[in-house]
Amino acid sequence: MAFQAPKGVSEYVPPRSALFEEAREAFATSARRACYAYVETAVFEDTALFVRGVGESSDVVTREMYSFEDRGGREITLRPEFTAGVLRSVLEHNLHKGALPVKVWTQGAVFRYERPQAGRYRQFYQFDLEAIGTEDPAVDAETIALGWDAYASLGLRQYTLLVNSLGDKTCRPVYREALQKFLRGLDLDGPTRQRIELNPLRVLDDKRPEVRGQLANAPVMADYLCAECKAHHDAVRNLLNALEIPFTDAPHLVRGLDYYTRTTYEFDHALLGAQSGIGGGGRYDGLSEDIGGPPLPGIGFAVGLDRIVLAIESERTGASAQPGTGCQVFGVPLGEDTHADVLTLITALRRAGVRADMSFGTRGLKGAMKAADRSGAAFAALVGEQERRHGTVRMRDLADGEQYDVPATDAAAWLIERLGTHR
Ligand code: HAM
Repeated sequence: MAFQAPKGVSEYVPPRSALFEEAREAFATSARRACYAYVETAVFEDTALFVRGVGESSDVVTREMYSFEDRGGREITLRPEFTAGVLRSVLEHNLHKGALPVKVWTQGAVFRYERPQAGRYRQFYQFDLEAIGTEDPAVDAETIALGWDAYASLGLRQYTLLVNSLGDKTCRPVYREALQKFLRGLDLDGPTRQRIELNPLRVLDDKRPEVRGQLANAPVMADYLCAECKAHHDAVRNLLNALEIPFTDAPHLVRGLDYYTRTTYEFDHALLGAQSGIGGGGRYDGLSEDIGGPPLPGIGFAVGLDRIVLAIESERTGASAQPGTGCQVFGVPLGEDTHADVLTLITALRRAGVRADMSFGTRGLKGAMKAADRSGAAFAALVGEQERRHGTVRMRDLADGEQYDVPATDAAAWLIERLGTHR
């Protein structure tokens, strides 16, 4: 039997891959507009980076990492997320010694050994954005606004924003203790009791009704925030109001990674069922020190591009990609010996910025015209013996069958003018 991709690997092939590209580009555009610079960082890292960065008590580190020993005996892990590696790279390349904040974005595959289901994969794709080196609440609001606007630019409407503050190293321990005290008094099973001691905030995230039912009166971080954290949180909330970004206060919102401090947020999509989280992030003011760097606050978020594709498909009728990626003109050689003429023509068209393809191989006129139709192009550009002699191209409008003889040298200008009205 032919090979299949390993279980849980998410892949995109045409035509659906156009939606993936569109999703990625929407976030890239949003990041570039706010002057975030692109970085490309390690796909695998020292395992210790994630253990110390993401946190020993997180599910990601304890259960979901793709870890192995390489041939040199090093402990290696495929990145389960971007933040720890991006910060490691920023520190390693001394970007934090230049102008602050360091604003960067990246995208690519990340790996978590999860139970695969719709919207949850073992190899999936994130867009990730980080602003490192300032505590200014305005940058918290900036990152949230960039995410919010990128979803909107894709035509999505059915998403909501949840916001919370997890406090800092002054106030969180006090809250943690109060929460532990409360949780120890509940009727919970063994593993959950262990979790109370290791990572009590995660218990708030338990989805089981029998646990949820007991959590209604659990203490919330909002009541324990120290003066600085409260002021920061109020500032972020006021900024979101000023930017007209609707949000819900979510006092029980805890994120799956241990590095978060202060602002945390999540974007949820209404039509995606169990895997509704289409993005999330927050501050990680202690992460730099946790991985051996200087004190350096930071904030960012990541978006699950796979879930964005699903969200687009759930909201957009027809779910075809927005214009801008498909083939616009398809070259058709009339007879064997005009292949070179057609390739020359479409190369010139491409150099003029037109998206062009041609019929390769020896499939005859009928096959070539079928390929032209399938390509989705607006025009077929036919070149035969006669066209070559006259230095013309026969442009055929594939929608209505109209044909136009155009001088080859004018072909690009002619197409550009017509494609403007066509798409
Ligand atoms: P995260 O919440 O673990 O945060 O992941 C971000 C997004 O990745 C989620 O909202 C979801 O859309 C997507 N995602 C997570 N797991 C899967 C999966 N198994 N399959 C498909 N999509 C998934 C982070 O990764 C943080 N590094 C975000 C961040 C950046 N915080 C600060 N800066």
